[in-house]
Amino acid sequence: MIEFTLNGTPVSLDVEPDVPLLWAIREYVGLMGTKFGCGIGVCGACTVHFNGMAMRSCILPVGGVNGANVTTIEGLDHPVKQAWLDEQVPQCGYCQPGQLMAASALLTANPAPTDEDIDRGMTNLCRCATYDRVRRGIKRAVELLPPPQEPAPEATEGETEDATQDETEGAAEGATEDATEGATEGATDDGTEGETEDATEGATEGTAEGVTPDEAAGPEAVEGGTE
Ligand code: FES
Ligand code: FES
Repeated sequence: MIEFTLNGTPVSLDVEPDVPLLWAIREYVGLMGTKFGCGIGVCGACTVHFNGMAMRSCILPVGGVNGANVTTIEGLDHPVKQAWLDEQVPQCGYCQPGQLMAASALLTANPAPTDEDIDRGMTNLCRCATYDRVRRGIKRAVELLPPPQEPAPEATEGETEDATQDETEGAAEGATEDATEGATEGATDDGTEGETEDATEGATEGTAEGVTPDEAAGPEAVEGGTE
């Protein structure tokens, strides 16, 4: 039994470990967005995210993803999807799920790629030669990316002293310790809840056993991503 997380949902597949992940996704789970092109790791039509990295699923044995997080085009939640629509990137659409998975992984690693970075990072093939539009789509996605998070400013020495003084004056012995414990617990709970909700938004429902493509499909299917 091979177990991994697919688009945010745990799946358990009764499949030989040497079956390519691509076929496990398409034939056993029933998600058809990930395409078969060359079958030898060259074209990129089968690109998925494996623990966040772009990976060609036609040459990745499903046994290799045991315990991992896998995302397919159905579960992709990234501004590249809107950017592709804005720039009308797809032509026939066949390679585009793979292009989107590769582009989103590229932008996660490098949110401001140069033309050279894009040329080096995007090795997916397109028989309709949409390469210029793919590049425009990536640049549009850069504009749509959320602004980077500012790191929280560190408290200055003076502020720290003031805060400590106030706490000491107003609190009974041991109150600071209790407050710290409570705050830490609260923050952890809140953070975990928020992260879980975000991570599972648009994710698949149910497990692979008995799961239907509609249930397992994430937010919007990619326009032009034909079966
Ligand atoms: S089908 Fe996987 S790289 Fe071509
Ligand atoms: S193969 Fe037709 S859009 Fe890429």
